[in-house]
Amino acid sequence: MFEIAPSILSADFSRLGDEIRSVRAGGAGVLHFDVMDGRFVPNITIGLPVLRSIRKVTDMTIDTHLMIVEPGRYAAEFAEAGANMVSVHVEADPHLNRTLSSIRDAGAKAGVAVNPATPLVDLEEALPFADFVLLMSVNPGFGGQKFIPTVLNKLRRLRRMIDDARLPVKIEIDGGIDAENINEIVEAGAEIIVAGSAVFGGGKPEEAVRDLMTKGSVFV
Ligand code: DX5
Ligand code: ZN
Repeated sequence: MFEIAPSILSADFSRLGDEIRSVRAGGAGVLHFDVMDGRFVPNITIGLPVLRSIRKVTDMTIDTHLMIVEPGRYAAEFAEAGANMVSVHVEADPHLNRTLSSIRDAGAKAGVAVNPATPLVDLEEALPFADFVLLMSVNPGFGGQKFIPTVLNKLRRLRRMIDDARLPVKIEIDGGIDAENINEIVEAGAEIIVAGSAVFGGGKPEEAVRDLMTKGSVFV
């Protein structure tokens, strides 16, 4: 079982409501919301006001990916603004357990995000405080980058780490996923598949979500 989480970073922001309705119609239940601060990553995107607007027009699970420094200052606020999932980067937060607990206390699922070059051991101790891990398969900052192939093996190791510890932690993967590589990613154990340019890049988001669901099911 897996789900597609379209990333609105690649959507047309002048027609955001329509874009969200399209991916919902295509069968997506999770909406990936990329927050960038120009400090943790070299790009600036969207934040709380956009989240609050979107919350009013969709029943989708809003999955907020915080690519910001000092995420502990804002994580709970995103949950209070209507995010159902909030992830913070292990590289940005020296107090992960506290931040993850604050997200849960605010009523959202708490996630740990990890960059491609960061070893899995860095998040191991935080797993009991997390509901999901967001494994980055590109260096965060931009949509439309190429999947880093070594992350596939890292994904398998993360799957084993979580299963061996018998923890109810889900695996989400983000970056460079398309109809060509989704099947091996699902087979390796990812449960929530973020896709930005593959969904919105071709101008037919509804069909693109359906296509990813079909291609991802090949080995399941
Ligand atoms: C990258 C973001 C991703 C991005 C994915 O920094 O975290 O969520 O939108 O876009 P694609 O699927 O185009 O790689
Ligand atoms: Zn993301």
